[in-house]
Amino acid sequence: MDHARVPVLEALQEFRRRGDVVYGPPGHKQGRGADPRVVDVVGLDVFRSDVLTLNGLDDRRESQGVLSQAQDLMADAVGAEQAFFSTCGSSLSVRTAMLAVAGPGEKLLLSRNAHKSVIAAVVVNGVEPIWVHPKFDTERHIAHPPEPDDVRDRLREHPDAKGMLLITPTDWGTCADIRGVARVCHEFGVPLIVDEAWGAHLPFHPDLPPWGMDAEADLVVTSVHKMGGAIEQSSVFHLQYDRVSPEALKQREDLLGTTSASTLVYATLDGWRRQMVEHGHDLLDTALHRAERIRGAAGDLPGLRPMGQEVVEEGLAASFDPLKIVIDVRELGISGMQAAEWLRAHRHVDVGGSDTCRINASITHADDDETEKVLLDALRALVDGADSIERQPLVHLPDPSVLELEQAMLPREAFFAEVEHVRAESAAGRIAAETISPYPPGVPVIAPGEVITNEVLDYLRTSADHGALLPDAADPSVRTLRVVARHRQAG
Ligand SMILES: Cc1ncc(COP(=O)(O)O)c(C=O)c1O
Repeated sequence: MDHARVPVLEALQEFRRRGDVVYGPPGHKQGRGADPRVVDVVGLDVFRSDVLTLNGLDDRRESQGVLSQAQDLMADAVGAEQAFFSTCGSSLSVRTAMLAVAGPGEKLLLSRNAHKSVIAAVVVNGVEPIWVHPKFDTERHIAHPPEPDDVRDRLREHPDAKGMLLITPTDWGTCADIRGVARVCHEFGVPLIVDEAWGAHLPFHPDLPPWGMDAEADLVVTSVHKMGGAIEQSSVFHLQYDRVSPEALKQREDLLGTTSASTLVYATLDGWRRQMVEHGHDLLDTALHRAERIRGAAGDLPGLRPMGQEVVEEGLAASFDPLKIVIDVRELGISGMQAAEWLRAHRHVDVGGSDTCRINASITHADDDETEKVLLDALRALVDGADSIERQPLVHLPDPSVLELEQAMLPREAFFAEVEHVRAESAAGRIAAETISPYPPGVPVIAPGEVITNEVLDYLRTSADHGALLPDAADPSVRTLRVVARHRQAG
């Protein structure tokens, strides 16, 4: 295929050259009506390129196939049989992918270190989750993806499950043995969906962890805005083999998606594919060398412990994305959240994520010598300034086994049940009717239907007191919890 072509960008350029006047959305009419004060901040080109696909980029019948050509090029670039663009982020694509494989009342294996969008899908889709527990790393206090044998055990217990959803890479860059899990799923005749939201760059360099389509997954979802070069909300479905029907995927996407997709998202996805096909190897090569330099230099600083390939050598992950600079800061006497706040306030550096133990910074094809220096200077300043950071009450990190909560009700039933709000002190033993996910990484500690325990409460309460963000909790301070009403619970 001719990867020099960019069908969406070309159609956009042509639309602008023709000077079409539009009498439908968007109401700003390619910027004619945009408030100059908005234009001052975001620029006029954002509005000029904001066009609908129908009667905009393409005609009423989409007869030019602008979008489908761009999707075919994407599929070709990453070794998929088919690719579909989505403008609603992987949060929605993951929901759609799950719905394409398992409908209401059907079982789906889900890795429990899932992003909150997976729990949302379980509630909205009405699927019965069969949790596959991740591998807890007690020393680092993180969860790595489950292994093929964990998946095999669960499929033996639930031969009627319709498939499996695996999350890899995790926010912290540790990756699953996708091929191993795919082969187990295929032995049982079911598809593997991979939430590879953090993996859009993986197809374009051999020194990066295996990419889902190369590793025999059936359906892969990526967020190109995370590690790639398209704008926020850009997500792509990639499909191969015949275990997931493209028709089912498209129709179920249609149930959830918008009818006013953003051309800006499509155009930047299209451009990212061309950039990666033409220059991806070299750009990512430079990024990989840069990341190694940063990891080495950070590791030489007292009190900072960057994670690296040793996590693979220790048998905790099948591979590791070296572009993730994940640094444990506990030896500085502060939490990752405090480090992140300090870096923003004192160095204008915004890290990608932080939790009790660590911070992470993603290095992408976009980094250069300047951003490398900014990050390293900021880390040096953090080490020098750490003693001045006020000590805060510690988060009570639970033993990993504590995070495997008993599921007493289906998530959907619990979420939509009659509920009451109880004080945290009396919430142990009650069934949660909400999701509570410290953010980032946005992995729920409590999902609807799970039985709340004192240990988990202690962890969440001390996290909230320490400043963790719990955006989905009914009470983000976790003083009260939303639980299934007592008589419902008894019944
Ligand atoms: C593993 C994983 N899946 C899905 C998502 C959702 O992606 P998006 O932000 O593109 O909606 C995220 C977001 O952080 C994620 O970490």
